[in-house]
Amino acid sequence: MSGDKLNEEPVVEVKNATKRYGGLIAVNDCSLSVTRGSITGLIGPNGAGKTTLFNMVAGTQKPDGGQILFDGEDVTGLAPYELFGRGMLRTFQLAHEFSQMTSLENLMMVPDDQPGESLVNTWFRPSLVASRELEVRQRANDVIDFLRLGHVRDELAGNLSGGQKKLLELGRTMMVDAKLVLLDEVAAGVNRTLLKDLAGNIERMNRELGYTFFVIEHDMDLISRLCHPVIVMAQGEVIAEGPMEEIRQNPEIIEAYFGTPVEVA
Ligand SMILES: Nc1ncnc2c1ncn2[C@@H]1O[C@H](COP(=O)(O)OP(=O)(O)OP(=O)(O)O)[C@@H](O)[C@H]1O
Ligand SMILES: [Mg+2]
Repeated sequence: MSGDKLNEEPVVEVKNATKRYGGLIAVNDCSLSVTRGSITGLIGPNGAGKTTLFNMVAGTQKPDGGQILFDGEDVTGLAPYELFGRGMLRTFQLAHEFSQMTSLENLMMVPDDQPGESLVNTWFRPSLVASRELEVRQRANDVIDFLRLGHVRDELAGNLSGGQKKLLELGRTMMVDAKLVLLDEVAAGVNRTLLKDLAGNIERMNRELGYTFFVIEHDMDLISRLCHPVIVMAQGEVIAEGPMEEIRQNPEIIEAYFGTPVEVA
């Protein structure tokens, strides 16, 4: 896909973003972009500023300086729900309360514009409510089928394995028309087999359904399998960007990453 000009349009552009916590500069004048249709990786050592950068993109933290553009529009300082409405989603751990609902019901909880939520509609327009519920149920079933979770469709979420819960979290992003999905260490604590499953599904969502992903991960194998390009942060700054094969081979990046010079085989 590289070299395809049509796919080089940015979904997200971060321009000179800075975030300070007291005297500490967590993100220092960072600029980067996420191209539509890509699975862009963000790596770097602990404390590099990755999550802080994500939080500024997702609206949970306001930059002290700089700009965030989403789909070409300045969204700096917009709240997460406003960004959600524009199609920017991040995964959240399934809330504890949701463990007593089935996988299917968990997915059906996601869309926030269900007419059923309005009392007026429930009383005066029951058919609208019913048809909307059917639509949401159909979509939830499609998502379950896409993720190959059919065997746990009616299982309580609380009984799912760790990996199945992660897939369900991913599935929640598919219940609305997302333009960008942010994943912050979604694979943490997932075993190797389920990791492949998760990675495979992210790839299929990207290739078959056109989702764009921006992914923070510490698992280098996962990053190199999934992400192109990969952006490297260290000490609050973007220090490199490119294909993982190049980044792996660059001693300066490895040194910045691990803090000590490393022999490259
Ligand atoms: N809410 C906060 N208040 C004060 N300092 C913070 C806050 N959040 C992050 N920091 C600091 O900002 C720096 C960047 O943290 P951040 O969480 O963005 O790093 P990270 O790259 O996501 O690290 P990790 O890989 O460990 O998740 C760190 O020094 C961290 O201690
Ligand atoms: Mg982090």
